[in-house]
Amino acid sequence: MYVCVCHAIRCRDVKEAAGQGACRAAEVFRRAGVKPQCGRCLATMRDMLDEAAPPLLAACAAE
Ligand code: FES
Repeated sequence: MYVCVCHAIRCRDVKEAAGQGACRAAEVFRRAGVKPQCGRCLATMRDMLDEAAPPLLAACAAE
């Protein structure tokens, strides 16, 4: 399933990015080599990152 239809970023792409340490939607876009376009996917992407790596998010929040 696509999370970001503007750039064809799939659920597995977001999960993979989270597994590699991404804790912000901007990092998912950077890894895909694109920038957000319409922004409709941002809330979903943030939710997925929150669910994928809560301990990582705590570490990111501490930065
Ligand atoms: S759906 Fe992701 S930027 Fe448009």
